[in-house]
This record gives sequence, C-alpha cells and structure tokens, in this order.
Amino acid sequence: MCTRRTRFCFRSFRYSRRFYYRVTTTAILVVVFILRLRGLWIFSMFPFSKLLTSITGGRSIDSDMRKSLQNLMAKPKFDFLPNYKNPCFITKEANLGENTKATDGKWKLLHHDSIHMKRYDTGFGQNQGINLSRHIYFEEHQVWAGRETQQDRYPDSGPRLYCLPYFLIAGFPKCGTTDLWHRIIQHPDIVVHPEKEPMFFDNRRFYNGTPTISPPVSQTEKDGTWTLETYLEYFTQATKYIEHQFEARNGESYHGRITGEGSVNTMPINDEWFQLPENANLREPKYTNADHVHHLVPHIKIIVMIRDPVERLLSGHLYFSEQFNYNTSAELFHNVTVDAVNKFKDCLKYNTERGCAYNKSITTIKNRIRVGLYAIHIADWFRVFPRDQFLFLKTEDYVKDVRTTLVTVFDFLQLEFPPLRAPSRFLFKEKINERKRTLEMLPATRKLLQDFYRPYNDRLWKLLGDKRFHYTYP
Ligand SMILES: *[C@@H]1O[C@H](CO)[C@@H](O)[C@H](O)[C@H]1NC(C)=O
Ligand SMILES: *[C@@H]1O[C@H](CO)[C@@H](O)[C@H](O)[C@H]1NC(C)=O
Ligand SMILES: *[C@@H]1O[C@H](CO)[C@@H](O)[C@H](O)[C@H]1NC(C)=O
Ligand SMILES: *[C@@H]1O[C@H](CO)[C@@H](O)[C@H](O)[C@H]1NC(C)=O
Repeated sequence: MCTRRTRFCFRSFRYSRRFYYRVTTTAILVVVFILRLRGLWIFSMFPFSKLLTSITGGRSIDSDMRKSLQNLMAKPKFDFLPNYKNPCFITKEANLGENTKATDGKWKLLHHDSIHMKRYDTGFGQNQGINLSRHIYFEEHQVWAGRETQQDRYPDSGPRLYCLPYFLIAGFPKCGTTDLWHRIIQHPDIVVHPEKEPMFFDNRRFYNGTPTISPPVSQTEKDGTWTLETYLEYFTQATKYIEHQFEARNGESYHGRITGEGSVNTMPINDEWFQLPENANLREPKYTNADHVHHLVPHIKIIVMIRDPVERLLSGHLYFSEQFNYNTSAELFHNVTVDAVNKFKDCLKYNTERGCAYNKSITTIKNRIRVGLYAIHIADWFRVFPRDQFLFLKTEDYVKDVRTTLVTVFDFLQLEFPPLRAPSRFLFKEKINERKRTLEMLPATRKLLQDFYRPYNDRLWKLLGDKRFHYTYP
C-alpha cells in the first residue's frame, strides 16, 4: 500500500487485475527455473512427475531409485592405516547390520561354507576357468582356509578392520584380464575373493529389483542393490587374512599383504550415470566411476588391458552368444554391427560424444561397440587419477610373452617376483577364459569396424603417449 510512511511509493498502484496475474505467473516461473537449475525439481515430489518430465523433455528419473542410491561422493574420506600396505581402516561405527548381507542372505556362507567363499550361481553353468583357478587358489591358501574358525569371524557389531582394493583391473572386457587375474592371484602376498568381478561401481549399486541391463549380465543381479557396505563385505576374507599376516618392522607390526578386484566394466560402463543424484539433469556425466573409485581409494593402482577394438568386439559377441544362448554367424555379426554403428552415429546428432559413449540404449549385449572407445573412457580416468597410478598392458603383447608382462605387473604392484616363498605357479600352461569357438568376420564387417574405430585409435595412442597402442588398419 502506498502510505506516507512507505519509502518506495509508486505514483500509481492501481494496476489492472491482468497485470497482477502476469507478475504472479512470472514470479512462479522464475522460482521454478531457479529450483530446476539447482537440481531441486519440485514437481518430482508429485506422482505425475514422470508425465511432467516427459512433457518438459527432461529425463524421467525414478525418484525412489535416486533416493535409494548412495551418494558415494558424499562419504567421508577413510583414514587408512600407515602400517598396512593395503588401504585398510578401522571404523567405530561398525554395526553394518543388514547391509552386510545380500538380500538373499547368502553372505552368511562367506564365513563357513565348505567351499569357504560365497559362490554365486550364475545360472549359466560353471566356467571351466574359474573352476580350475579355484582349485589352484585353495592349494595355495591352504593355511588360511584350514585355520579359519568361528572365533576368527568378525563380530556383527563393534569396531573392526575394513580393507578396500589396493589394485583394480578396471578394463577392458575380452582383453585377457581373466587370464591375467588368475595368474597374479597365485602370488602369496595377494589375497582375493575368488569372484573376480564384484561389479559394484558399474552395475550392482544400481540394481533395483528389476534387471537394469537387458538381458541381465547374470543372475547375480538378484542380489539386490549393493551399498558401499556390501562392497566392503566382499573384501571380508581378504581383510582377515591381511590383518592376521604381519611381520615386525622397526618394532611395529607391518601388514604387507594386498587385495584387489577385477571388475573390467568399471572403466567402460557408466550407463546408469544419469540416475546418480550428483549427475542430475545433465547431458553427459559430470561424475563417472573414476570419481567414485578415487573418492574411496585415492591411491589405488589401476591395471588396464587393451586389445584391438575390432577383435575385442567380435570376442565379446561370441562370449555373449554362449552366455545368452543365441546362435550366431558372420551374417548376424554383420547385421548387429551395422545396426550399432548407425545407432551410435545417430546418437551423436542429438547427444555429446561422452553422452553416447555412456548411453546404454544405443547398443545391445550382442554388440557393445561403445566399449572399444578406449580413448574416451581412459580420458575420464586421467581427469581424476595421476598417470603413475595406471599400468596399461597390450593384450597382443601379453599373449606373446606372459612372463614379461607379469614382471611388469608385479613391479607395478610392488611385489617381489618370482616370490621366494612360492614356486612359480604363474606360468601355468592353460589359458583361462580363452575362446575356442570363433568365426571369420565378413570383409565388409571388418572394414566398417576399422573405419569406425580408426579415429578413436588415433586418439588412444596420443592420449597414452605410447606408439605401441596405435592400432592401425590398411
Ligand atoms: C571342476 O570341478 C569339478 C567338481 O568340483 C571337477 O569334477 C572338475 O574336474 C573340475 N574341473 C577342472 C578343470 O578342474
Ligand atoms: C541354434 O542352432 C541349432 C542348430 O542349428 C538349433 O538346434 C538350436 O535350437 C538353435 N538355438 C537357438 C537358441 O536358436
Ligand atoms: C541380416 O539382415 C538382412 C537384411 O536386413 C536380412 O535379410 C538377414 O536375414 C539378416 N540376417 C541375420 C542372420 O539376421
Ligand atoms: C540416449 O540416447 C537416446 C537417443 O539419442 C536419448 O533419447 C537418451 O536421452 C539418451 N540417454 C541418456 C541417458 O543420455
């Protein structure tokens, strides 16, 4: 109102009713716009949010899902113990309760099952390779396996030690990582869960009752959403071993054993990025798995195996044809390749390059063409980790000379090789997870893939500053 005592008094305040409507509407729009900018999309509180986001062109995000996802970036930093080579910490807030169990309760088996470790029923039959290595593994770690008693178990509450991985084989699928894994875990100073791939960062933390990847990667998705606590529980056996194995050093106990994991999709697969609260309303991810791994374990050592992306793609196609029981042929592979290349190029018209590299809707399990865009994935990891925390290996070199590669790997992990305490089991003849069945791809398919990957291959070797990684085609 305009009274004498009001300082800001307009000459005329008798505006029309329409004027007031306009001012009110504009004010509401401005408030909504600001909330949206700040990631506070108020309409998502209402049941019609999905309809609304689809009308407004936003991404339809299941708000329940988002609430249930842990914001790993918001977790406080762990205080790693100086007398442990492996990143381990003690927490006082130790009652992890139900979180430590997968929803099917199978974690219980971790402690005293006759096989001694949780084994997932993948539903696709036993993998010969894993079977074989488990056998070797138990011979090597007899002492540990036999020694374990009920008293050895961690109590369900009270302070306890936790360990995170010292090393991570972060990429790439179908590049020989399984073979490498089964060799390096023979080292007496390395202790691991026999399930090579917990798939926490790329997959299991997003699982929400219905498979998010179609067809599902494995039946293990039935385990429900993994939280950070579930991931820590995956390392329980290793943690116990690391805790119990120590030597005196300068009058103090020093724990020199290490653990690690080999989820090879951690680097290339960020397909659920848009579900993360910290990536809300973006066109491409601000945070990828790299940021989350870095936040939890800043000094982790990252091993990456790289192979000619054309060969990698075919190998993946053949692998999944066995896993998911589809018959394949050179013609089918050609068809799915044409389809994948077209969809990727089409995606680039509407999305950024990174947006497409991490967009699951444009590829199927039969042709994961995006996985071979190594330069894009690695660049995301170079953004957060210093270069000396990576070891890049070339599959083609590894196959030719396993021993030389192993020397490099153990040097990188700061482990003696060959270890004095164990005979050399590392050079066993069998190749693990080697593809026996193959097919000759059509020349047209090869040409198409070579043209597709060529520019990314050029970026790869420049990014790595290493000509060895320059895959060229005629
Ligand atoms: C795998 O395990 C089964 C039973 O546990 C055994 O009969 C078979 O010989 C094993 N295979 C290899 C290659 O060790
Ligand atoms: C694959 O092919 C074989 C023989 O050609 C046939 O018996 C089988 O049913 C096929 N499987 C699928 C999943 O199509
Ligand atoms: C591949 O695509 C062609 C053309 O669309 C089609 O005729 C053929 O049946 C497809 N082959 C396979 C194995 O899917
Ligand atoms: C993936 O690509 C499709 C097609 O271009 C697009 O509609 C969708 O929004 C993209 N998804 C994400 C998460 O960016």
